Amino acid sequence: MLKDKYQKEIAEILSHYPVKRSALIPLLYLAQQDEGYVSEAAMKEIAQMLRLTPPQVYETATFYTMLNLKPVGKFHLQICKSLMCALVGSDTVIGWVKAKLGIGPGETTADGLFTLSAVECLAACGTAPMMQVNEDYYEQLTEEKFDRILADLRKDGTCSLKTGPFMWPEARSAK
Ligand code: FES
Repeated sequence: MLKDKYQKEIAEILSHYPVKRSALIPLLYLAQQDEGYVSEAAMKEIAQMLRLTPPQVYETATFYTMLNLKPVGKFHLQICKSLMCALVGSDTVIGWVKAKLGIGPGETTADGLFTLSAVECLAACGTAPMMQVNEDYYEQLTEEKFDRILADLRKDGTCSLKTGPFMWPEARSAK
């Protein structure tokens, strides 16, 4: 149960919001940090905590592509397919994933290392095409860069081409 495991963190999150339901997204993110995705059990527990119905939690969780509703691989490749990225080749990037890893959107490699998701704008439109891997951004992608990212992730679990981690507002204000 989240409330047993993260009593302190939950109290801290709730303390930021006079209206309890406003803590919904930070709590969903906490659940995702715990299991790698937001499970149905977690959604029900959060609904109970915030006095919401499970469908109210579900409709929020399904709206944001940054919340995973099923387990993902060790490296979650999230390729933006919104207009700016589409204009400069997001389909090509998705094609590289298909050719090099054999997976399409919503699929995970057999070794559990990579999951691909096609997502909406990640606010890096000026440096398209881009992808987010877990919480890191990789921008102005070329095939050469993409190959290096995959090779480095396999080898070291990280890649120096990243341009900075994505940060949720909660994490940003804690810095
Ligand atoms: S359109 Fe891709 S980051 Fe905005």
